[in-house]
Amino acid sequence: MIEKQYLLNSRQVAEFVARGFLRFDELVPDEINQAAMTAFDAGGIQSYPAGTPLSQCYPEPSPIGRMLRMPEIQGIIHSLVGPDPLFDHHAIHVRQPNEGKAQGMHGDSIIDTRMHFDIQIMYFPHDVPLEMGGTLLVPGSQYRRINEMDIARYQNFVGQIPMVCKAGSILVLHHGIWHCGRQNQTDRKRYMYKIRLNPRVRQYRLWNTDDLDEAKGESQPIFAGEKRSDIQAILAQREPWFEDGEGRLEIVNRIKQWRFLTGDDNFDVHYWLTRLENMPENRLEMA
Ligand SMILES: [Fe+2]
Repeated sequence: MIEKQYLLNSRQVAEFVARGFLRFDELVPDEINQAAMTAFDAGGIQSYPAGTPLSQCYPEPSPIGRMLRMPEIQGIIHSLVGPDPLFDHHAIHVRQPNEGKAQGMHGDSIIDTRMHFDIQIMYFPHDVPLEMGGTLLVPGSQYRRINEMDIARYQNFVGQIPMVCKAGSILVLHHGIWHCGRQNQTDRKRYMYKIRLNPRVRQYRLWNTDDLDEAKGESQPIFAGEKRSDIQAILAQREPWFEDGEGRLEIVNRIKQWRFLTGDDNFDVHYWLTRLENMPENRLEMA
């Protein structure tokens, strides 16, 4: 059982729903980072058959097991995909020194329109300065479902974020987010460990929902420059790549995801989804 203090709160989960990722800087202690680097240098880590419960993977003394069993990481996993999810696959991504090329922008992997989502945890065991490339993300892209490398011809996106971080940092991603590994322009190897996890339970209120009602907020338009931190404001935040700066389609997709996660079928941001659900042709009474 996970202690409540390690679970995400409603605002954090709303941030994940809005932007498709959460970032936790310098979460993993250096002792585990060093042990992971040693294991990677030695040629890798054991894999498991897809569909194995995570609790059966990485027994002691695996440094990856120690990282994944940290209460903070267990809390993140539980909050998004529930107890003991399934191991899907993992990879140690290596960018060679001065490799001279980058990975094309992509989604993992084919078009997948489920409301249920998998998460991918990315673990950066050493410092990643900008010249080392890091993983590049397009925040909020997770509902623009794409097929693998469909978008690989594009090199840069407005609003993209390079993962520049200190050792021990963690990224948690929605499976649909657009991302790629950037070119490593240093004379050192870059490592990034990734694991994909599948939920085994309905993704319904798996986080610490104590703040859910308080954080919900008012369904009022948000004015430019207005500072609000409630869930409606979090789900209404714009990304620089949104059409006309507004991105209603993305926000409606976020509302649908939030309703799915909370079971609150009346939740809306402004009136944008409720309007689409108004179907007077289905009413029996005549005006
Ligand atoms: Fe990928």
